[in-house]
Amino acid sequence: MGLNFRYKAWVFLWVLCCSSLISSVKATVTYDHKAVIINGQRRILLSGSIHYPRSTPEYYFEERYDLVKFIQLVQQAGLYVHLRIGPYVCAEWNFGGFPVWLKFVPGMAFRTDNEPFKAAMQKFTEKIVGMMKQEKLFETQGGPIILSQIENEYGPVEWEIGAPGKAYTKWAAQMAEGLSTGVPWIMCKQDEDVPDSIIESSFLIYFLVRFPEFGGAVPYRPAEDIAFSVARFIHNGGSFMNYYMYHGGTNFDRTAGQFIATSYDYDAPLDEYGLPREPKYSHLTKLHKVIKLCEPALVSVDPTVTWLGDKLEAHVFKSESSCAAFLSNYNDSYAARVSFWGSTYDLPPWSVSILPDCKTEYYNTAKVRTPSIHMKMVPTNTKLSWGSYNEEIPYPNDNDNGTFSQDGLVEQINMTRDKTDYLWYLADVAVSDDEKFLKTGEDPLLTIESAGHALNVFVNGQLAGTAYGSLENPKLTFSQKIKLHAGFNKLALLSMAAGLPNGGVHYETWNTGVLGPVTLTGVNSGTWDMSKWKWSYKIGTKGESLSLHTASSTVEWKEGSLVATKQPLTWYKVRETQGLMNFTCQSS
Ligand SMILES: *[C@@H]1O[C@H](CO)[C@@H](O)[C@H](O)[C@H]1NC(C)=O
Ligand SMILES: *[C@@H]1O[C@H](CO)[C@@H](O)[C@H](O)[C@H]1NC(C)=O
Ligand SMILES: *[C@@H]1O[C@H](CO)[C@@H](O)[C@H](O)[C@H]1NC(C)=O
Ligand SMILES: *[C@@H]1O[C@H](CO)[C@@H](O)[C@H](O)[C@H]1NC(C)=O
Repeated sequence: MGLNFRYKAWVFLWVLCCSSLISSVKATVTYDHKAVIINGQRRILLSGSIHYPRSTPEYYFEERYDLVKFIQLVQQAGLYVHLRIGPYVCAEWNFGGFPVWLKFVPGMAFRTDNEPFKAAMQKFTEKIVGMMKQEKLFETQGGPIILSQIENEYGPVEWEIGAPGKAYTKWAAQMAEGLSTGVPWIMCKQDEDVPDSIIESSFLIYFLVRFPEFGGAVPYRPAEDIAFSVARFIHNGGSFMNYYMYHGGTNFDRTAGQFIATSYDYDAPLDEYGLPREPKYSHLTKLHKVIKLCEPALVSVDPTVTWLGDKLEAHVFKSESSCAAFLSNYNDSYAARVSFWGSTYDLPPWSVSILPDCKTEYYNTAKVRTPSIHMKMVPTNTKLSWGSYNEEIPYPNDNDNGTFSQDGLVEQINMTRDKTDYLWYLADVAVSDDEKFLKTGEDPLLTIESAGHALNVFVNGQLAGTAYGSLENPKLTFSQKIKLHAGFNKLALLSMAAGLPNGGVHYETWNTGVLGPVTLTGVNSGTWDMSKWKWSYKIGTKGESLSLHTASSTVEWKEGSLVATKQPLTWYKVRETQGLMNFTCQSS
């Protein structure tokens, strides 16, 4: 892989809204204890996360990775950009955004005071900053980027690893500053050891919901509750907030991190397809407008807090020329009527009313006035045509067909380099005629320990069973009696990776695949330890090598009445015969 791949790592963006159109004159970006200062003016920054490689086709520039084009588009829309360079981004992205080859660089240790890592990180950061400068995309050059982020959520790792973590934080901050972007740098979730010149931002990240886990519930968070939290953040003096995510998108191809679902919809105000999710979208849009009305007061003074009753508060921002008030009811089940500066206001439970002139209630977070619209994806045409293709189970020692042998069990990603999620572990199991279990019918027990993430076990071409791990614990154990006959039995284990981890202390050292022990108990000698046997391996599936999942595949699919049903390891494709949409999918 050439340079293209090396830099196909991920830079994610926070798009800042509710800012006035960007002026074309060169400007400065600084900050003080209250707010980020753009062009000499303190600003309230309301931002939403979008990951452009996860976005809908409107953002699909053939190559989904055209960062420069994306930022130019954001600028055209009159928005600012907070550019999260990382290079570590977490983001439920495969390997946290790092390319897999990085783990195999000699002497490599991720995200610590390690020379090979720091060299790679600096090279990447310089590359991205260089691209941005060349295209004049920083605010000081007339572009939309007002902030950039180095590293991501490093605080917890630093806390765990201690001194080398502290040294790394210091190095990262200095390295970033050395690049002279002209705009401030941010570190996120980094409470300690942040140099003065870097904005510590653990206070601003704002999760809408928990991310979508494979097999987990679809995330949901009501508009009222989000609006309430944002209003609280602002009335407590917050000046820069971010919705994670404002538009969640889709994990295309194999980009999802370990056990992360394909959908990254996030129950976000803009749904997976980029469509407004109502009433959330309109309710939050109104909130942003009313916060914008309060901006002159919010950035001028610190709030004065008054108790209006049990769980009832007024936060007032009053300067010589402006006044904004936030009346809040923290009781989650009782509405309240409060008196404030001679008027009465009704506050629903768990809500904040916003008075941009300290008099008139323009907005209450619990009063949703937008109708709910239920968006539904419907096929343009219901006539579907299915095809199937049976995956072959490879044989051990079939070197002509791409298997290779090695003593003992191997780590999966070391073999696949993440080019595929699949690795076959193959063995011939020789059973002599005098094995007692052949006569008693007491089948021997096969036990397989795997570092993850899912496993299909085939004995003599038949599926014997399946086991899988989870996000919480990717490891799995397969333990089942299997049918063996006298002579050679073909054991084929299909080990499947469900994405790579996207974070954790030294996650580059975490293993995947069948690392053992693998044992067979109930044989004449008691137990066979198969872990040290000579195993055959095959990387990937036949379907992948035939590019079945792409439009360029030319194999003959079984169609109509010949379509396989209830078969393990079958590729399926479905096509709308009269519609526009067609796609393929795999079931295993
Ligand atoms: C809410 O208000 C009711 C009525 O005043 C009270 O009984 C209840 O304890 C309050 N709940 C909380 C969480 O403060
Ligand atoms: C192995 O290769 C032979 C010859 O190309 C082919 O006929 C056979 O189907 C292959 N078997 C598998 C399991 O791929
Ligand atoms: C990775 O595979 C190579 C051989 O391909 C082997 O020499 C090396 O020890 C393996 N490393 C790990 C960590 O398994
Ligand atoms: C999918 O649909 C497009 C447009 O109708 C068509 O050109 C293409 O051949 C179809 N692909 C497959 C694999 O059927």
